[in-house]
Amino acid sequence: MKRRTITLCTLLLAALFAAGGSKAQAQQVIPVPQKVEQGEGVFRITGATALCTNLKGKEKKMLETYLATLPAPYNQGLKSAKKARGNSILLEKTETAPTADNAESYTLEVTPRQAVIRAATDAGLFYGLQTLLQLTATDAAGNRTVQAVRVEDTPRFAYRGLMLDVSRHFRSKEFVKKQMDALAHYKLNRLHLHLTDGAGWRIEIKKYPRLTEFAAWRPEAVWKKWWFGSEGRKYCEQDDPRAQGGFYTQDDIRELVEYAARRHITLIPEIEMPAHSEEVLAAYPELSCTGEPYKHADFCVGNEATFAFLEDVLAEVMELFPSEYIHIGGDEAGKAAWKTCPKCQKRMKDENLKDVNELQSYLIHRIEVFLNAHGRKLLGWDEIMEGGLAPNATVMSWRGEEGGINAVKAGHRAIMTPSSHCYLDGYQDAPASQPEAIGGYLPLSKVYSYNPIPAALNEEEAKLIYGVQGNLWTEYIPTEEQCEYMIYPRILAVAEVAWSDPARKSYADFHARALKAVEQLKQKGYHPFDLKNEIGDRPESVTPVSHLALNKPVTYNAPFNQTYAAQGDKSLTDGRRGNWTYSDGAWQGFISRNRLDVTVDLEAETDIRSISADFIQVVGPEVFLPAEVIISVSTDGTDYRELTRISHRVDKADAIVFKNYGWQGETKARYIRYQARAGKEFGGWVFTDEIVVQ
Ligand code: ACM
Repeated sequence: MKRRTITLCTLLLAALFAAGGSKAQAQQVIPVPQKVEQGEGVFRITGATALCTNLKGKEKKMLETYLATLPAPYNQGLKSAKKARGNSILLEKTETAPTADNAESYTLEVTPRQAVIRAATDAGLFYGLQTLLQLTATDAAGNRTVQAVRVEDTPRFAYRGLMLDVSRHFRSKEFVKKQMDALAHYKLNRLHLHLTDGAGWRIEIKKYPRLTEFAAWRPEAVWKKWWFGSEGRKYCEQDDPRAQGGFYTQDDIRELVEYAARRHITLIPEIEMPAHSEEVLAAYPELSCTGEPYKHADFCVGNEATFAFLEDVLAEVMELFPSEYIHIGGDEAGKAAWKTCPKCQKRMKDENLKDVNELQSYLIHRIEVFLNAHGRKLLGWDEIMEGGLAPNATVMSWRGEEGGINAVKAGHRAIMTPSSHCYLDGYQDAPASQPEAIGGYLPLSKVYSYNPIPAALNEEEAKLIYGVQGNLWTEYIPTEEQCEYMIYPRILAVAEVAWSDPARKSYADFHARALKAVEQLKQKGYHPFDLKNEIGDRPESVTPVSHLALNKPVTYNAPFNQTYAAQGDKSLTDGRRGNWTYSDGAWQGFISRNRLDVTVDLEAETDIRSISADFIQVVGPEVFLPAEVIISVSTDGTDYRELTRISHRVDKADAIVFKNYGWQGETKARYIRYQARAGKEFGGWVFTDEIVVQ
């Protein structure tokens, strides 16, 4: 983590800017700056406004190339700083030595005469310029104006990222550039490209042409149809008329790297290993444990040829990407074939590795040595800790925060990207109102609420939290428009989480700014989620429900599942209702013989008018509505009287639905037995949140 340091402004300048009006201005900028002071008057930006800088050489050229993509006066070339007398925008690199603490800090002073951006680095100047652009308004006559203001700003974290999965659905070079324009505008500085996965290899490697002649193409464009279809997840030749997919040539990558650099974005390549590599093993089956294509997802770690391949690939990747970090994946290895593969077994014996986790760790260590020898650092998903973390590795924590916490406590850097707050492929609003997503529920407010420094860390440890990233996996995102829909505006919340001081954050204020940003993004040709029409949380989940069974004891005649225990024994009578996702700690899951069977004790004979419970269906992870519900009552806890038996024809076409199963009438009882079972044809889970008795 970067410590906050603010260049102190002089007393004179401070006196020129009265506080008070700062709110209106701050409301225009995402992420919210550290300090904003309103001044007097208005600066008009016209075609005659001069753009001046003291930057020289490559830095000047880089800025000029970027400015050329903006409208006048920004695209008119940079004049010498000496010319910044009258109507001008001055970008001035200060004498201050650039340090880790001020590497991206800037000040911006706007007076009716001019706008001056000062920073110790060209990155700081770039971010000052983004703030100026965001503060610029267009009046009724079409003039561009900026209210006089003084801004002092510095980021909370050095690493502020987005991950884009271009394997599941390939995205054009132009699309990637367009996203970088927006990322830079909101002061994000890392774009992590998930370039390889079972759905397609996306980068030209000269030494292994089959990766892009074959492993980059499939006969079906839409991942969901390809993955679940009857054809069996096959690849095809590039010249096959059915071929869908694509890859970046090495020239494309160089172009993207250059485009990113001009926007102070580092492109981080991810090359998956040892798992998620079905496509490689179809093209080069000799790298799998049995030598067969279409059989494995994991490389054979016992085979030296695997290391030769990975090092060759990484050597070409390092030639293309200047990034300090090379991401090597490392997630979700099945490791099953390693247990019986003679080569893997021999490796384990020779290297004294006690299990397959240590075998994975052996691979990661070896790759780290290779990357370090080339002056690069290894970055991987949190599974790289299993079997022992490589000595210099940085961990990207996605399965919650534990991986990040453990990495930091062991002295490693961590980047936080927990699926609970950072996985932008989940639903961002009521599922019925949204295009099909992978599941979950991650509204803008929840992304915004994230604090990348877990409470479990002390101040010293917290410094090893390098930053935060939003991840866009694209299994369920077949089009570029839908990609943007999932990214925006949630990545703006990531930007503010990553950049702004928590003391400056307010969701209500951010929401107002995000509404405006959504309109601006639309004007620029993006396809954001329409925040102004957000439905929000499931109404039932907003306030606890009061009813006759509240806090009454529940006996489980069949156990709930420990992974989806919610609030344990109290869960079904705690008044707390579930939200749009079954993994929110309010829904309780049952998979044991696919049934829920509980008895609620009202602790006294009670007049009852209704008994009901809600269920959720999410077809992807096999969470189904019950096919049958039986509700019975008893006065003594022994003899039960059936009140109702409800049948329901479960329809798999309902990707996400909610349904209430209940009885209404008049009865008197102390015990209530509620049974629900999944349909025989589907099996799977049933989930409920509360047994409501009135
Ligand atoms: C991941 O989501 N498998 C990193």
